[in-house]
Amino acid sequence: MTRRLLGHAAGVLLVLFAALAAAVPAPLPPQAAIASAHPLATQAGLDALAAGGNAFDAAVAVSAVLAVVEPASSGVGGGGFYLLHVAADGHDVMVDAREAAPLAATRDMYLGRKDGGSSTDGALAAAIPGEPAAWAWLAAHYGRLPLSVTLKPAITIARDGFPLYARLQNAIRVKQRALAASADAGQVFLAKGAVPDVGATIRQPALARTLEMLAREGADGFYKGRFAEHLVSEVRRAGGIWTAEDLARYRVAERAPIRVHYRDATLVMAAPPSAGGVVIGDALAILAGYELPSLDAVTRHHLTIEAMRRAYRDRAEYLGDPDFVQIPVDLLLSPQYAAGQRTSMRLDRATPSDVLRPVFTGDESPSTTHFSVLDREGNRVGATISINLFFGATYMVPGTGFMLNDTMDDFSTSAGKPNAFGLVGADANAVGPGKRSLSSMTPTFVERPGGLMIIGSPGGSTIISNVLGGILNWFDGKSAAEIVAAPRIHHQYLPDTVMFESAALGADERAELEKRGHKLRESKTGWGNTQVVTWDYASGRVEAASDPRGFGVGLVY
Ligand code: DON
Repeated sequence: MTRRLLGHAAGVLLVLFAALAAAVPAPLPPQAAIASAHPLATQAGLDALAAGGNAFDAAVAVSAVLAVVEPASSGVGGGGFYLLHVAADGHDVMVDAREAAPLAATRDMYLGRKDGGSSTDGALAAAIPGEPAAWAWLAAHYGRLPLSVTLKPAITIARDGFPLYARLQNAIRVKQRALAASADAGQVFLAKGAVPDVGATIRQPALARTLEMLAREGADGFYKGRFAEHLVSEVRRAGGIWTAEDLARYRVAERAPIRVHYRDATLVMAAPPSAGGVVIGDALAILAGYELPSLDAVTRHHLTIEAMRRAYRDRAEYLGDPDFVQIPVDLLLSPQYAAGQRTSMRLDRATPSDVLRPVFTGDESPSTTHFSVLDREGNRVGATISINLFFGATYMVPGTGFMLNDTMDDFSTSAGKPNAFGLVGADANAVGPGKRSLSSMTPTFVERPGGLMIIGSPGGSTIISNVLGGILNWFDGKSAAEIVAAPRIHHQYLPDTVMFESAALGADERAELEKRGHKLRESKTGWGNTQVVTWDYASGRVEAASDPRGFGVGLVY
């Protein structure tokens, strides 16, 4: 009895202590920091902060400049996820601006088509964009500055031009033929049909006008009225199925992020329709059963690969748009489920993916962009935004200056058929009217008593393993610069192959992993474009780092 009372008193004390801890205001960062994939975007974000804006205003400014200077990766015609931490009340929320399938979309719309209608190229590949709605939402609900201020740098750069850099030139080269086939896109991105030289000025006057319209009229200017009518008629003329209703009914959704605890940290991550938070939570719950720091490097790699194999398998089976399918999130993140997953794992042997219970399936390519923002009030944004593959559907709506997304390809377009990222999926991610396709984009906050990290990356299916690797490296005490540069290892269940960057595994490690039964595939070019902000509370040090594989820059202010 006494013991029970004591236990009760201890419980009350614990609750009181937790309440007190929650009431203690978090320290304020001594500096603001932004890491993004392009120097002009990072600068626009800092300018928004200097103009009296907060992290959310900076996020709009960064997104809009990225739409101009990384037109192959994200933009007005795309969508994504904005993970927010609002310092004033400490709450975290995900603004889901994922593109939604048009109402006329059907499960089998991409099956057996011979007329060229595909889920990756042309107007039929495009879902209803979410980015314009996200910008207006951020400005109205979280920011302090009007769109007329935050969109200004993007408008100027679109109108006056920016110098072509090698990474974008490469994207243009890859999609040269398709860009030439879309008259407006050819005009902007090609020089008389040829790939322009690095340093050539890319001017986008039509995009500047679209952005000016957004600055003036907000989301309604895009989703309703004459602009929307023009979009619908051009998309339909190009073989698409959009209607005025599709545009008029588009809304961002606010969703509770996935929140998990690992070691002494709390992770706040993108929730469905992103697979990211669930897959990382699922993998970390498996890894929590091992003393990773005490293990040798090969065994750590082995276990991480095995955890990814299982968590990506769950992605394929269970995940989709939460407004359409029931996802057993709590189960997938539970220690009991993880313990079950570990029973099939061996330290000395890879589990072939086809030994795991099969998924009756459907599936994910390179572009997309991520940025991380921390302001001096402690507000945070991690945003991953996309038009899916390079230049999306490679179709520029005439007169508008922006590329349509090909996010429809992130659905499982046919059972068992891998998408552009080799991902397979099941019924949960089948095409449906108004439905949002399953994504891998994983903006993430990791917070432990000593500090925090904001992380994310493009890279299709590899986003999740990339963020997971970043989290594990952060636990190992690596700096922001070391985390973005760290060599990567990826396994996504199917294909049953470990993809790795050359520097990730030494010859002995490769031999040992092969001995344990892993099939290895080396990538000489690497992948991802990770953008990290870290803040160490004790030293007050704030760092912003942009992946050396890309062209971006991280700056503190
Ligand atoms: O949402 C997704 O998962 C994909 N549309 C992201 C595409 C991507 O990251 C391409 N990057 N290299």
